[in-house]
Amino acid sequence: MIRHNTDFLIVGSGIAGLSFALKVALHGRVAVVTKKKDSESNTNYAQGGIATVIAAKDSFEKHIHDTLTAGWGLCHTDVVRLIVEHGPRAISELLKLGVDFSYSGAERRLENLDAGQEGGHSEKRVVHAADYTGREVETRLINAIKSDPNIELSEDHLAVDLLVRETGDRGSCYGCYVLDAHTGEIEVFVAPVTLLATGGLGRVYMHTTNPSIATGDGVAMAYRAGASIANMEFMQFHPTSLYHPQGDCFLISEAVRGEGAILRLRSGEAFMARYHPMKDLAPRDVVARAIDRELKLSGDVCVFLDLSSIRADYLLKRFPNIYSTLNALNIDITKDQIPVVPAAHYMCGGIRTDEHGRTDIENLFAVGEAACTGMHGANRLASNSLLEAVVVADFAAKAAVDAFEKLRPFESPTILPEIENLSLEAAGEKDNILISHSVAELRRLMWDYVGVVRSNERLELAKKRIDILAEESERLFHRFPPSFAMTELRNLVTAASLIVESAIQRKESRGLHYNVDYPDIDDSHWKRDTVLRRK
Ligand code: FAD
Ligand code: SIN
Repeated sequence: MIRHNTDFLIVGSGIAGLSFALKVALHGRVAVVTKKKDSESNTNYAQGGIATVIAAKDSFEKHIHDTLTAGWGLCHTDVVRLIVEHGPRAISELLKLGVDFSYSGAERRLENLDAGQEGGHSEKRVVHAADYTGREVETRLINAIKSDPNIELSEDHLAVDLLVRETGDRGSCYGCYVLDAHTGEIEVFVAPVTLLATGGLGRVYMHTTNPSIATGDGVAMAYRAGASIANMEFMQFHPTSLYHPQGDCFLISEAVRGEGAILRLRSGEAFMARYHPMKDLAPRDVVARAIDRELKLSGDVCVFLDLSSIRADYLLKRFPNIYSTLNALNIDITKDQIPVVPAAHYMCGGIRTDEHGRTDIENLFAVGEAACTGMHGANRLASNSLLEAVVVADFAAKAAVDAFEKLRPFESPTILPEIENLSLEAAGEKDNILISHSVAELRRLMWDYVGVVRSNERLELAKKRIDILAEESERLFHRFPPSFAMTELRNLVTAASLIVESAIQRKESRGLHYNVDYPDIDDSHWKRDTVLRRK
């Protein structure tokens, strides 16, 4: 078995992993493992931008206030303050890496950055690169790490499980084992410090804006290793993903509504005024639930985004990505309304960490969408996640360097025999239909029973079926040679079961978690995080 020794091991090459890599590479050797090609990540598809205080009439207090309001009482105020106040510095660092943000003034100065508006924001504060912000940021980060001699990136390498030895209360992490897609072999990466930056888990649901990498691997690995997992009931559904047979849930950025687009029913009625004083720019949970309700009442399959109030030349300049993608599907956004539906978009919960990305397993850090710092509470404010990832990666890098210095010289433990033997023991022949069937069943089940609106009965039914899928996938995992599909199924099932368990525990409706059997918010019992840990 190939064994790699490094100082900092990073799983994931999105904004969180790469931002962290650049910082820790000043102090030691860094290995980044990523399961597909380098840029394939949720980050790469981000459209709207990065929320931060830019305009003279805006303030940190207003951004903090909007974040707390969207989060329905569950945000950790100290974490929110820290992240919001470090926003302008994070943008400056990205500018230094060469990120080509859009400007509204002629001179390229921080205060001239163009700021868009999105749901729940009381001011225009979303810094963006037209409507392909994520791609622009990801490209610059990849370029930077590729020119850093201390960083080695392994593509097509899937982290399967963490290496944890028993020390203290929760154990201590010393790396992970990884499946190489090309050789089909398990490799071991050993390091004093490990970061999980594996992103989200939208693929748990049948309809999602997330690319195929978003299977909750980091959350599932951390859970299996004994880490605390928080607030998994708060899956954010984006209100406006494209409804089109060839669209595969392509996102229509909230920034489009920020520029004046409005949601309409098939009848032409602009319905959002009936749901919230901020109308189409209400927080995301409100808009997604409103659309869900209208679709159930009307029996229609989608609602429509009307962009007719926005000038055609401006639309082309501001949303070139949306324009060209939809044009290829024969939708001309300068003339046609866009058919849209909600889709699973962002996991507000995840591996519980502090603001330094520290999990409750020693020497294991988590940053980005895989983590739950307390920033987003029960509903994330739009464009706060890229912000959180960059700021927390910086704090986590400092804490990780401290941990690394304390562990020097690092005595790498002997690898546990059962991990060494994994690929040797499993000699069964692949039977992929068992895997693909279970994935499809799980995603459908989650969409139908654990979606925008939930009930006790549906959650209990979902739990029963997921328990069966969990037992089956665990059995298959140990029977077949390790494969990407099998590992991802196992992780999807774990992520789904954590969502359902958390949703069952929370006996109220708050933010993104709405249960018809407990329709009200209950601050006296439930103004707290839901925390799960493997027994
Ligand atoms: P990701 O960018 O998803 O990166 C995860 C990385 O981990 C990937 O490289 C993946 O391949 C790798 N990985 C996963 N599992 C494994 C494994 N087992 N082994 C090895 N590698 C693994 N947020 C905003 O703030 N503003 C926006 O405008 C915005 N727009 C969005 C638009 C879309 C369509 C989507 C899907 C999300 C959007 N978000 C936005 C959310 C935001 O993009 C993500 O939350 C953020 O990019 C997450 O960054 P990350 O680094 O944590 O994870
Ligand atoms: C969007 O552009 O609407 C997505 C923004 C986000 O998810 O924060």
